Amino acid sequence: MSPLYLKIVEVKTNREIPFELLDLADPSRAMIEEYLKTGTCYLAKVESQVIGALVLDPLGSDRMEIKNIAVAESEQGKGYGKALLAHAEKIARESGVKKLIIGTGNSSLNQLALYQKAGFEIVGIEKDFFTQNYPEPIFENGISCKHKIILEKTM
Ligand code: COA
Repeated sequence: MSPLYLKIVEVKTNREIPFELLDLADPSRAMIEEYLKTGTCYLAKVESQVIGALVLDPLGSDRMEIKNIAVAESEQGKGYGKALLAHAEKIARESGVKKLIIGTGNSSLNQLALYQKAGFEIVGIEKDFFTQNYPEPIFENGISCKHKIILEKTM
């Protein structure tokens, strides 16, 4: 189904938080719960079904970070991730921030492609972020996920 049918709505109560989706993007439930304290969660819905999620967190007055972006496995590759990124940009612009930030693992090759195609540029690396903050080793694409690659887009 095309993104034309997609609605993105803000979560109003904690009961609506789609942890099963947020877990796809972040293996640490503790980290998720931490950024949900200050972040706002959005649901991507097709008809009444929740197929994606986004968490946006303000960083001071001039930056906002995408803390989590996820699309249900069965719905990936259909443009919903790009639609969620576009929604994050819309919220960032409406909030008047200058930069939208997203971080991902050095091993997250598809995500790095998606974000750069959407206009995000690599601006830094947090060395050993994943090895120091996550209890279990993470492997993707046969690569050890050690470092956090920081990307940003000017609004
Ligand atoms: N090389 C080049 N382009 C690539 C690519 C690659 N290896 N992998 C993906 N892409 C591109 C696609 O071609 C597409 O762009 P295009 O339409 O311009 O060709 C885009 O990335 C994917 O778009 P879309 O279909 O909107 O993505 P999605 O709905 O699958 O959502 C994620 C993307 C990352 C949100 C989704 O895969 C997901 O939930 N993954 C698990 C959770 C996760 O990793 N979250 C991010 C943590 S940082």
